[in-house]
Amino acid sequence: MHQKPLEEFHDAKNSDVTIAPGRILKVGFDFGANTSVVLASSGKENIGLESDVMPTVVGYPKPGVLAGILPESKPYYCGDEALRHKMHLNLKWPMERKGILADLDAARDFVTFVRTIVDREGDKGLWAVVGSPANAPADKLKELRRSVGHAFSRILILPEPFLAAVGLRDDSRLEDPAYRDPTRASLVVDIGAGTTDFCVVQGFYPTPNELISIAKGGNDIDLLLYTALKKKYPDMNLSALAVRRLKELHSFVGPPPRPVVIGVMMEGKARKIDVTEEIRQACESIVDDVVDSVVELISRTESEAIGDIMSNIVFVGGGCLIRGICEVVERRLHNQGYTEAHVSQTADYKRPVARGALKTANTVRDDQWQVPG
Ligand SMILES: Nc1ncnc2c1ncn2[C@@H]1O[C@H](COP(=O)(O)OP(=O)(O)OP(=O)(O)O)[C@@H](O)[C@H]1O
Ligand SMILES: [Mg+2]
Repeated sequence: MHQKPLEEFHDAKNSDVTIAPGRILKVGFDFGANTSVVLASSGKENIGLESDVMPTVVGYPKPGVLAGILPESKPYYCGDEALRHKMHLNLKWPMERKGILADLDAARDFVTFVRTIVDREGDKGLWAVVGSPANAPADKLKELRRSVGHAFSRILILPEPFLAAVGLRDDSRLEDPAYRDPTRASLVVDIGAGTTDFCVVQGFYPTPNELISIAKGGNDIDLLLYTALKKKYPDMNLSALAVRRLKELHSFVGPPPRPVVIGVMMEGKARKIDVTEEIRQACESIVDDVVDSVVELISRTESEAIGDIMSNIVFVGGGCLIRGICEVVERRLHNQGYTEAHVSQTADYKRPVARGALKTANTVRDDQWQVPG
């Protein structure tokens, strides 16, 4: 039995059905370790936001910054603005570790900022569906709820890969017999910065049995690459951010598309170094876990559903941009006897979770919302 009522996803009190006076905006919020996405609608139409995709970062002015150096006198700066002024700010990533809140104060400030993006006047009731890592432990969900609760008058926290399936569904094609509706039968793999999350979707809200989250993602690949390069070239002066950019430009698994040769300064001299193997090894570090988790979820699935699910494995999240990852995972599954396995990736990897969250926000009943405690 797969059907799971929404209430079971959280332990906060259910909302009463009284709708707050004033205008209600529905919000879909993907609070990512690396990147956050916020979408909003007034029920009838989506609201165009100035910036719906932003780095999940808060910058606090460094002591002693001269007047006029920062654009305005503010206690903190968020998202792209924080990165623009990073020289003069102490940057905090609220979800630095494993997609789980690492800095509750920064999280609160970031969510306050998100609220102001959606509702400049600050006079609306915001009802937000928020994504969480699959099967997040109850205490972590509580922290997440506390961090977002002050900014929204109603919330629902649902697993990110499930929301991604909802977000990927093309509602205009539901009558098309050739269309593979991801909410009917799919296995969504969200390779994020902090975690990689897996969800079998079969037309119902997922049960814990249909969800796996592994504490490995793009941040771990960055760290492996940084460590490998530092070990081989101790004098190389590359920041953690530069290593992430290097990975994003050249990431691949399997046969290298081309050698990756970069220019660096070492001991005051410009040098060219070949980093192909370091990039391959760092990126391939997640492949075993992805294959194992897919197989584990499939082993929990009723046998008659396996074909439909295996043939609709969808990769989302920034990690799905690693060149060759779909092919390598698919081949590994074929080699393990899952000959029907088919892996694809989405064109827009950034927004499916937030889009699914907004769709859900627009469809759940009023009494299914939670009043933040
Ligand atoms: N071209 C690329 N190749 C490899 N990795 C990439 C590429 N582009 C982005 N990434 C990585 O994807 C990650 C960000 O993806 P995403 O925005 O889905 O994560 P997130 O939602 O912030 O994290 P989480 O879901 O864990 O909370 C980062 O680690 C980033 O470096
Ligand atoms: Mg994510």
